[in-house]
Order: sequence, then C-alpha cells, then structure tokens
Amino acid sequence: MGSEARTAIVTGAASGMGRSTAEALVEEGWDVLALDRVETRFEVAGVSVRTVAVDVTRRDEVRDAIAAHLAGAPSGTTSGPASGPAKSLGLVANIAGIYPPSTLGDFTEDLYRRVFDVNVLGVLNVTAEAVPHMAEGGAVVNFASVDAFTVSPGQLLYGASKAAVVMLTKELALELAPRRIRVNAIAPGWVSTPGNAATGRMDAAAASIPLGRVARPEEIARWVSILAGPDAAFMTGETVVLSGGDVIR
Ligand SMILES: NC(=O)c1ccc[n+]([C@@H]2O[C@H](COP(=O)([O-])OP(=O)(O)OC[C@H]3O[C@@H](n4cnc5c(N)ncnc54)[C@H](O)[C@@H]3O)[C@@H](O)[C@H]2O)c1
Repeated sequence: MGSEARTAIVTGAASGMGRSTAEALVEEGWDVLALDRVETRFEVAGVSVRTVAVDVTRRDEVRDAIAAHLAGAPSGTTSGPASGPAKSLGLVANIAGIYPPSTLGDFTEDLYRRVFDVNVLGVLNVTAEAVPHMAEGGAVVNFASVDAFTVSPGQLLYGASKAAVVMLTKELALELAPRRIRVNAIAPGWVSTPGNAATGRMDAAAASIPLGRVARPEEIARWVSILAGPDAAFMTGETVVLSGGDVIR
C-alpha cells in the first residue's frame, strides 16, 4: 500500500473476539478503527485504542465514523496519530453480534428485527460503507457461527441470522471479486468470551467438544489475520469452521 497506513475496521471491538481481534491487529501494525455500541478504551502494545460509539444497524453512523477516521479527525479511533499519511482500508472485520435465545414459542417480532438488524444488516451496512474506501487486495471477514450449520436448541433466530451471514459472504465474495476484494467468514464454536460466559453453559459445553475445551478469543482472532493475509490470497466466499470438532459428529 505504499506510504498509506493499513487501516482495519473492527466492529464489536469493545468485548470478546472483537476486542481480541483489534488487539491482534494493532500488534501486527494495523491502524485500527474500532467500532462498538459501547465506548471503551484499552491498551495494547503501548498503543491506546478507543472504540468509537457506533451502532452498526445505523448506516449513517457507520459512514460518519469511517469518513472521520480516514480524514484523520481526532474523533476517529486510531492506534496511530490523529493525522498523518493518507489512509485506505485494507480489512473489515464484521464481528459485532448478539445472541439472545429464542424459540418458536417465545420469539417476538421485535426480537426478530433486533437479531437480524445487528447480525445481518450490520454486516451489510459496514461492508457497504467500507468498500468504496478499499484498495485492491482488501479483505472482509464476517463472523458467522457453527449455529449456521448445526442446531443449537433455543437459538432459532440467531442460527437463522448466522446462516444468512454464511450466504451473504458468498454473495459479497462474487460481487466484490472484480475489485479483487475477498470476502470470507469465520464460524466459531464455543469461545470463552464475556457474552458467552453469561450463558452459564460453558463448562458443560467444553465436556462435549471433541478437543475437550472451548476456544480462547485470541485463537479465533488470529484467523482474521490469516484470512486477510497472503496465505488466503486465493480464498473467497468461504466460511472457516473453528469448533474443536464440535460440528463434525
Ligand atoms: N462467543 C461465542 O462462543 C461465539 C460463537 C460463535 C459465534 N460468535 C459470534 O462472534 C461474534 C463475537 O462474539 P463475542 O462472544 O465475542 O461477543 P461479545 O458479546 O463478547 O461482544 C459483542 C460486541 O458487539 C457489540 N455490539 C452488539 N450490538 C452492536 C451494535 N448494534 N453495534 C455495534 N456494536 C454492537 C457489543 O457491544 C459487544 O461489545 C458475534 O457475531 C457472535 O455472534 C460467538
């Protein structure tokens, strides 16, 4: 990318795998635009990262945050100086997501809209606003879930929303291939994130996973870099399942 800084957008960066991904990318030298509904600040490798308060369901908020960051405005969250060399986007990691339980018996129209708005529309909003700023060779990495492929009881809407993410990853891969932007997804199984810990089901889950444990957020985050990097240069439209063998039975 010449003299341009490599900028990565990470959504859901205040917690769990989004935060781990933001940390990993900063350590690799990326300039990170960290977006989350929640504003927070954390230190990594001596760099202070602040999430910009953006709701991914609000396309105008996403657009403004990207424009401010690329213009070098101080309001943009950055791992580098507020102004400096021109920036262009090399990576979008769509990680923000919600996973409230739902069944046919208890779902509401409001919950349906919330789950699909954050998990599906959010991916589309951020990708649509990012792509015009992306150079050839850029990558989009979406977060799906094993629940897109196998049934987690009580995750009716969530599973359907993540299946949508798997399919839109393929659709976007085809649409963006002429621009040489690759689009792939990660489908984690159980990961020890704060959101997941709150379910209280992690110990029981670990016992049933063939590799005998849940994943650490950092080992999932690592795959964002792999999918954005040269080793995945011929890969697009795919979803990588990282479940410790949970979905092969
Ligand atoms: N934890 C798991 O085991 C697991 C498994 C499979 C898939 N996933 C998926 O991975 C992703 C990350 O999961 P996690 O467990 O690290 O999540 P988490 O709950 O720890 O963090 C999610 C972050 O997304 C943010 N967020 C939620 N709605 C938002 C919105 N509208 N706009 C902006 N930010 C918003 C939250 O504030 C939070 O900081 C999600 O898409 C989730 O569905 C998680």
